[in-house]
Amino acid sequence: MVVASAPGKCILFGEHAVVYGHPAVAVAINARMTVSVREGVDNWSIDGMHYVEAKHPHLTYLHNRLWEGDALAIQVNSEIFGAAGLGSSAALSSAYAAALLELANRDSAIGQLPLIAECAHLAEASAQSGRASPTDSSTSALGGCVLISDVREEDADWQYTRELQVAGETRRWEVHRIDLPATFAEASIVIGFTGRPGPTGEMVAKVADMLESNPDRMEDIDRIGTVTRAGVTALRLGNIEAVGIAMDECHRLLRGIGVSDEGLDRLVEAARPYAYGAKMTGAGGGGCMLALTTDARRCAEAIELAGGRTLISPLGVEGVRIEQS
Ligand code: PMV
Repeated sequence: MVVASAPGKCILFGEHAVVYGHPAVAVAINARMTVSVREGVDNWSIDGMHYVEAKHPHLTYLHNRLWEGDALAIQVNSEIFGAAGLGSSAALSSAYAAALLELANRDSAIGQLPLIAECAHLAEASAQSGRASPTDSSTSALGGCVLISDVREEDADWQYTRELQVAGETRRWEVHRIDLPATFAEASIVIGFTGRPGPTGEMVAKVADMLESNPDRMEDIDRIGTVTRAGVTALRLGNIEAVGIAMDECHRLLRGIGVSDEGLDRLVEAARPYAYGAKMTGAGGGGCMLALTTDARRCAEAIELAGGRTLISPLGVEGVRIEQS
């Protein structure tokens, strides 16, 4: 039996603007998806039940690509809030890809992070009809803090290029790591889940409609790009106050383009007295917010009093790993 796990993620900067060519920054969080796979069984199963291919498009894509052996018994265990914009399906794909590679070779899965990230991205894309960006899959596979951009960024550690055919065109992303200075070891992020799913496709379409009827608002999108770059500089320098200011500004701009809502704003406001900065994270319209703080307990209490479910994480945790082989 092989057991592999991979973390969820949250976006620190750049959601929505990344759709228009600006960079985005995400961190891996300490909520993991764990997948175990066992050979020597008669039939494919998942969590003890008959495996139905169409119900699990990510997993089906992955074993069609990576596994030539017989039936497997798959067991999945998640610590990640589902449908909350925390990358649970990418974490599932990363962990399953790693488990399959390990099972096939018994030694080398973690030496193949770009391959795991690629397989997880393509699994996401095949399940979402080709529209997935590699943000979730790369952050889950690599762990830590990840910068996704249309261009190779000079002030980050470039890892690989990801390409995807979307509607007959090739989309290309450059994936980097950002090494966070020790200052951030004392800080935490507190994630607050509104309890309502964040409808990513709907929110992306809402922004596209808004820009079509009001092209001047592209200034706000560009401004998110500028704030993201300022946030990257602050992260690299270990300037936690400046990271917080950039997060607050990012939230203001995301509100301005109509993707936050009352529930997210309430959790953001509740967190702020105990945080360097706070913002919605991901697509919005539900889903989660996050706060950067050195007082995680009080910040989490404030978010919970305002109605959120919380999760406390360091800024960036280890990416995909083999737990048992
Ligand atoms: O809610 P999430 O984590 O799926 O984030 C969506 C991020 C967007 O920028 C809104 C869309 C995208 O494809 O990058």
